[in-house]
Amino acid sequence: MDNILTTELNNFKLLYPNIEFYFFEEIDSTNNFCKSLANKGFDKPTLVLSDKQICGRGTKGRNWLSPKNKGLWFSLLLKPDFSTKFLSITPILTATAIYETLLEFDIKATIKWPNDIFIKDRKLGGILTESNISNEKIDYLIIGIGININLDITDFDLELQNKATSLKIAYGNDFNRFKILNTFIKKFSNIYSDITEDKIISILKIYKANSCILNKEVSLHYNNTYEIVTPIDIANDGSLLVKDSNNIIKQIYSGEVSLRF
Ligand code: BTN
Repeated sequence: MDNILTTELNNFKLLYPNIEFYFFEEIDSTNNFCKSLANKGFDKPTLVLSDKQICGRGTKGRNWLSPKNKGLWFSLLLKPDFSTKFLSITPILTATAIYETLLEFDIKATIKWPNDIFIKDRKLGGILTESNISNEKIDYLIIGIGININLDITDFDLELQNKATSLKIAYGNDFNRFKILNTFIKKFSNIYSDITEDKIISILKIYKANSCILNKEVSLHYNNTYEIVTPIDIANDGSLLVKDSNNIIKQIYSGEVSLRF
């Protein structure tokens, strides 16, 4: 492990004694590492960070570009004691924690349902949650987070160059990844402690106020079809309520929304 990583690891261990930290210079995927920890059994909330991922995974089986030292590539491994009914809202809560974290650095991001972080009309970060339930209890919840911090435009291939961004590209200067991670841990801990219906409603208010799709025409890809719809609300379980071209309201649990079509 390089010196900076060792120093940061020790600082984080001192700041958060209740969290188990693993910092790597290189790994296949921090989500994969969490899954193997989960299968062996774990007794503490765990945060796994890597400077670089060789097989970073995105949603829908996509790859997640994770070049060395240029982003925050990390996963949380948790055993929440809340009801399984709250699992579907966890990506929404996490996206709100990222939104609030960035705001602390005067970065105004928006959120694209369910859990993409955008700056202007480009993707800055994403979340990949994976979980296992047995006997109606959550065995483990893995929340993988990728935030493009100091990537240059040339780090992205041509196709991604007009879809993705980084803080450095958007603001013209480098950002300290570990300061952002530290703020995220605080925001996330606040949001995740004592989850109740009321708390979810108040977090959803922040999420909705900073959504980049509500009340705009978007293209929705779901059930193998594309449809132009207008998202009008997010339900308390995290599903998206959309109005179609015949003014019929539909509730979408899984799908992909695109602002460009
Ligand atoms: C998305 O496609 O929007 C989700 C991207 C999630 C990427 C993060 S980076 C850290 C963690 N490890 C992975 O392999 N993926 C997630």
